[in-house]
Amino acid sequence: MLWATEVKSPNGNIVLNFMVDKGRPAYTLAYKDKEVVRLSHLGLELAKDKHASKGLEETDLMDGFTIKSERTGEQNETWRPVWGETATIRNHYVEYAATLLQPKTQREIIIRFRVYDDGIGLRYEFPQQKELNYFLIKEERTEFAMTGDHTAWWLPGDYDTQEQMTQQTRLSEIRSRFNEAVNWGNSSVAVFSPTGVQTALQMKSDDGLYISIHEAACLDYATMHLELVDAQTKALTTKLSGNSNLYTPNPAPSPYPLPSPMTFVSHLTPDATGLKGAMQTPCETPWRTVMVSDDARDMLSSNLILNLNEPCKLEDTSWIHPTKYCGVWWEMIVGKSSWNYTDEFPSIKLDNIDWTKVKPNGRHAANNEKVKRYIDFAAKNGLQEVLVEGWNVGWEDWANLWKRDVFDFVTPYPDFDLKMLNDYARQKGVKLLMHHETSSSTQNYERHLEQAFQLMNKYGYDAVKTGYVGDIIPRGDHHYSQSMNNHYLHVIKEAAKHHIMVNSHEATRPTGLCRTYPNLVGGESARGTEYEAFGGSNPDHTCILPFTRLQGGPMDYTPGIFVTKLSTWSDNSSWARLTLAGSLALYLTMYSPLQMAADLPEHYEQFDDAFQFIRDVACDWDESIYLEAEPADYITVARKAKGTDNWFVGGKCDENGHKAVVRLDFLDKGRKYDCTIYADAKDAHYEKNPQAYTITRRTVKKGDVLKLQEAPGGGFAVSLIAK
Ligand code: NOJ
Ligand code: CA
Repeated sequence: MLWATEVKSPNGNIVLNFMVDKGRPAYTLAYKDKEVVRLSHLGLELAKDKHASKGLEETDLMDGFTIKSERTGEQNETWRPVWGETATIRNHYVEYAATLLQPKTQREIIIRFRVYDDGIGLRYEFPQQKELNYFLIKEERTEFAMTGDHTAWWLPGDYDTQEQMTQQTRLSEIRSRFNEAVNWGNSSVAVFSPTGVQTALQMKSDDGLYISIHEAACLDYATMHLELVDAQTKALTTKLSGNSNLYTPNPAPSPYPLPSPMTFVSHLTPDATGLKGAMQTPCETPWRTVMVSDDARDMLSSNLILNLNEPCKLEDTSWIHPTKYCGVWWEMIVGKSSWNYTDEFPSIKLDNIDWTKVKPNGRHAANNEKVKRYIDFAAKNGLQEVLVEGWNVGWEDWANLWKRDVFDFVTPYPDFDLKMLNDYARQKGVKLLMHHETSSSTQNYERHLEQAFQLMNKYGYDAVKTGYVGDIIPRGDHHYSQSMNNHYLHVIKEAAKHHIMVNSHEATRPTGLCRTYPNLVGGESARGTEYEAFGGSNPDHTCILPFTRLQGGPMDYTPGIFVTKLSTWSDNSSWARLTLAGSLALYLTMYSPLQMAADLPEHYEQFDDAFQFIRDVACDWDESIYLEAEPADYITVARKAKGTDNWFVGGKCDENGHKAVVRLDFLDKGRKYDCTIYADAKDAHYEKNPQAYTITRRTVKKGDVLKLQEAPGGGFAVSLIAK
């Protein structure tokens, strides 16, 4: 038996043990007396650093440690997010920090744990000290030793994309499923190991524990993946050079013992030189998180990730607002119209073109007439903003061409009148939502950022959707590296100075930074609705995302596709695998303060009675109660609209259908509510009959029970308006 310090969560459900095992820091984790994480070691391998003191150039922070001192404490506070699923959030944990000394180098590090009732956060801290000022990370070796061959919902670990379908397999099956799971068709792909997976990783053990591994507060650090050690693993993947987008044999095996099978080991995203981190003390890593419960609903209601982030750093947040929007977007994604204005040239140079003289292709969507139509639609239906993509010059040759000067973010195409359209929108009480596709030419974007934001301020835009399609330019860097993570944060901070909200597509997966910078109102970082036009996503996709991608922050999933068979109005043969009622449910089950009504206005006009729900539904909440949940099967949630007595309930299910039982126990006693139920019709089916829905109205009160049959690939949405 090792000597260990035991730390219990406030209610005692979680028990953490920390120890130094033959000089290596290690921990175990249990939940309600069940082992969750077996003995797992902690440490970092450092890269050769010519600036380090003599003799310390290659000394790792892996072993040879003794405990110098220990501290414990407790925090119990409540804070109010600027927007969110609930009006207040409780942050209650027991903290334990061990200061470790490596006598050989005289270096000290701190390992800090925060132990919550629903999981833990742990991180490494590096105080400033004589022998540790600047250092380079070769790899972080944080282990998570699982207790069995759990079922996992996983995405292949990739340095550049998260736009894959989730795989549901046993841990031992990851390797054999890996190649099939990679989205080789994505515009930027870099997988590193046949057992590499992304976080947030949701698992379920055979004895009914739901376990999730992720990270919180990833700041000035590379995004973490997990590499599973399985029965076939010979060595952990280490890559210190090269930028291949295929996993290659290990060039420099780690000298440390391989952990036992079914152990995940952290694997950081490298930069263009292969490095995983350039650090200056004092500094710390992000929090590594393990959430656990015997009830899947707790996975969805947990605030552990947000709590581990720093409080809001913006003094004035009055300009940040939850937003429903529509946009000139879907018809381009589907291929009916284009972002680019002309098809005349094989390539363009921004400075060399007189746009008034080029021949229009007749398919350019972001034109005055069409944008006005969308503004009118938004104004009529209570949507606050209208996204317009393809408004600015450069879309003729924009993606994956290693083109640096791809956009300037300020010059509109000749048929897009920037001033007139913003004035028109303002008169109607609507705002335009800016679009900055960077094509991953990040230096180009940084060069133009100030001017681009000034232009937005001048015309009254207060939100931008950014995009990072394609491999990162300068070449070799990856979407989730330390340098790229710093880029995204730079954009968020600069935007805040200009009172601009940010919604980033293809950026790194979120780790709760929206608490600190609440102008980060959304992001993509997963397979969004656009894939319904690129071959489609499985019906259970949206019953998984809340357990995985949404753990770190809201997603701009862009729901609301009513006409799911795209061939009925375009040449695209893809179809969205959900029913119309199911598409309404997503406004509740996929929490976001930014919600798009993504389909075309004419499609909504065709189903105006159902569209009423999108008009009515809130996107900011005082309370949220997860009523039913099982990963990849179904999610049912009730939410109370901010500052009102009205509730909305949504349920979404997979291809098998689901019978939801909604007990209206959360309503106010003695009060009556107008209840409108948007449900799948009896014969509804995501493939055979997606548009079969019913709308029923009745009066309900606390204690009533709604029994709602969700069709295969379907769902329901309910509004409860207090009388
Ligand atoms: C990919 C984004 O996810 C999508 O929403 C956008 O329309 C295109 N890039 C073009 O920027
Ligand atoms: Ca995308």
